[in-house]
Amino acid sequence: METHKHPSLATGRNQNDVSTWRGGRSRRNAVSPTVLALTALAGLSWWLLPPTLVQEINPNLAEQLSEPQFSWSQITPSQSLEYHDCFDGYQCARLDVPMDYHRVDGQGTRMAIAIARLPAKVPVTDPRYGGAILINPGGPGGSGVAQALLSGRNLQTIVDATAIPSADTMDKSLDQYFDIIGFDPRGVDNTTPSFSCFPNLFSQKSWELQAEADGMLGSSADSFMRNWQRAIALNIGCSQAITKPSGPGEDVLGEHTNTPPVARDMLEIVERHGEWREKQGLEAQRRHDHRYGLDPQRAIIARTVWNRGQEKLLYWGRSYGTVLGGTFAALFPDRIQRMVLDGVVDTDKYYSDAGPDPIGDSDAIFEKFARYCDAAGEECPLYAAGGPAVIQESYKALEKSLLNTSMAVLPSTTRGPEVVTWTDLKTVLRIGVYQPLAGFAFLAEIASDLIKGDGSKLADFKHGRRAPSCPSDECLIAGPWSPQCQVPGQNELYSSSAILCSDAEYMQKVDEQGFQQNWRSLQELSSSVGDYWAHVRLGCVGWSVSPKWKMPVPVTGNTSHPLLFVNNILDPVTPLQSAKKMSGAFPGSVLLQQDSEGHCTLAAPSVCVSKGIRRYFQTGELPEPGTVCDADLKPFLGAPGKVEARSIEDEILYKVLLEEALRIRPVFPL
Ligand SMILES: *[C@@H]1O[C@H](CO)[C@@H](O)[C@H](O)[C@H]1NC(C)=O
Ligand SMILES: *[C@@H]1O[C@H](CO)[C@@H](O)[C@H](O)[C@H]1NC(C)=O
Repeated sequence: METHKHPSLATGRNQNDVSTWRGGRSRRNAVSPTVLALTALAGLSWWLLPPTLVQEINPNLAEQLSEPQFSWSQITPSQSLEYHDCFDGYQCARLDVPMDYHRVDGQGTRMAIAIARLPAKVPVTDPRYGGAILINPGGPGGSGVAQALLSGRNLQTIVDATAIPSADTMDKSLDQYFDIIGFDPRGVDNTTPSFSCFPNLFSQKSWELQAEADGMLGSSADSFMRNWQRAIALNIGCSQAITKPSGPGEDVLGEHTNTPPVARDMLEIVERHGEWREKQGLEAQRRHDHRYGLDPQRAIIARTVWNRGQEKLLYWGRSYGTVLGGTFAALFPDRIQRMVLDGVVDTDKYYSDAGPDPIGDSDAIFEKFARYCDAAGEECPLYAAGGPAVIQESYKALEKSLLNTSMAVLPSTTRGPEVVTWTDLKTVLRIGVYQPLAGFAFLAEIASDLIKGDGSKLADFKHGRRAPSCPSDECLIAGPWSPQCQVPGQNELYSSSAILCSDAEYMQKVDEQGFQQNWRSLQELSSSVGDYWAHVRLGCVGWSVSPKWKMPVPVTGNTSHPLLFVNNILDPVTPLQSAKKMSGAFPGSVLLQQDSEGHCTLAAPSVCVSKGIRRYFQTGELPEPGTVCDADLKPFLGAPGKVEARSIEDEILYKVLLEEALRIRPVFPL
């Protein structure tokens, strides 16, 4: 696992904000009006702006995060969905489910799945209501609640019909409007019970600072030993923390955080949604009949009826979310209404280690970095005459010069003294290949500064990602390891390991020699992310947790509706090859390709891809097999070719896609 916490090029605001609307204290700066004004200027090449500025022009974020206090503990978990207003226009519920679905004695531990629903633009009783789309942001360990709060409105804009729905409920149009539902998977954030690898957040943060200072695998001659020992110390303790039963006869969380029970949770959400919808329908029919007289057809009841045991899933997952979706599709193939899988993981490789490592296309993305920089000329800070090869060489020489050493950076008005290192540069590179549109310009700027001996921007970046924490008063009173010391939203990296390591048990069982061998082969496969990928696997060394419900491979199924796969042509960790393979495992599915680089298609806007996704949700129709869509923007270069005038509808779509593409995502491997 990467030794850093979430990156945010915007001085760490992403992460802080995430904790804010989970009940933390706000420390967000206001969006600078100057920046807003600046970007409104016609002709400003925003994609050449440093991402710090780009992040600040994201207006939605600012609005959503000035949220009055809401606490999940105010909601009592229930076996039916009971929604409570929460955040700004959302509804929250805690769904009570068994920890072990296979337990037959009716006893056993219960879990409460945290659910956030962005309601559709029409009532659920309206003929134009299309259903609830469940989402997952990846990870493993990513919070679907956070995704719904941050991106829900944009995702809804992508899938909904373009027309603003008229108030006329007898509207006979075929337009569909959807709920967006995010949920926290087991072991993640607001879903309970949770677990902790540290006695309090202070201890976690100091561990993370020290790990950062040690440097990642490959950063120095002793990097292996340092990281291996850290993995042992952290992971043995974490896996003990997650396998401690809370009492006699209780189930053990660590045996039930892997993906199959989460897929079963999704089925439960879908069923309970049907139950809830039916209840709304009964009430709406009563109101309707009271007002307009008895409807002999009972039309509202007819269209909202709960198809008990047969409710179907609408789902949109990316990266690890494709593992979750694929697992659901294999376990419950007759329960699929729509499923979009973006940034497709080779799910057999994930579960069983059989097949090629997934990072084979990542260096090609780094080569694109040099190509785009060369094409941009002097606008790219790292530009050097002589072609892309010269630019690549100058970056590589810089990387090498930082090995075994570090660069001193004097204090500034906003931070103390720092040193910047090879590890820091590699982190910026990793963000770049995952999200080129948001990260390449920053990478070029950082690299160019470092070559000139100036590490101050990299130091600012490093500093901005930190969020030191003092234990709260409640935590100090209750003492170390107490629930009062657990802070939701801060445990995601460790949740990630809890899920990954029990899905991929083979990662737990590796000795030093075997690990180093694998590390070397990953380095050979990718100079850009090989070391990072080895870190992901290191995150499982020392774990010893065996899940109760194991997933058989190959992951395959004949689904009740064909799946839609989408993938970038060049993806650093979910290569096109994996998407083709998984599409082959689900008969009738179609793979829609986006001609761009980065992890998941949302890394760059493509109105074409989004319209394909919208059409699929609206009508169920799939794109022609073999369809390749252009991306609407390229790093450094802006729009490729001539920009054609967009319709108003497409312009709205483009804007939300752009906002999503520029949002720096948390540091999860998948
Ligand atoms: C880093 O240090 C190791 C061990 O001292 C040495 O073998 C290696 O050549 C050094 N690398 C660079 C780029 O200086
Ligand atoms: C799907 O259906 C085909 C054709 O009927 C069959 O050959 C195949 O085994 C089925 N796959 C699964 C996973 O059930």
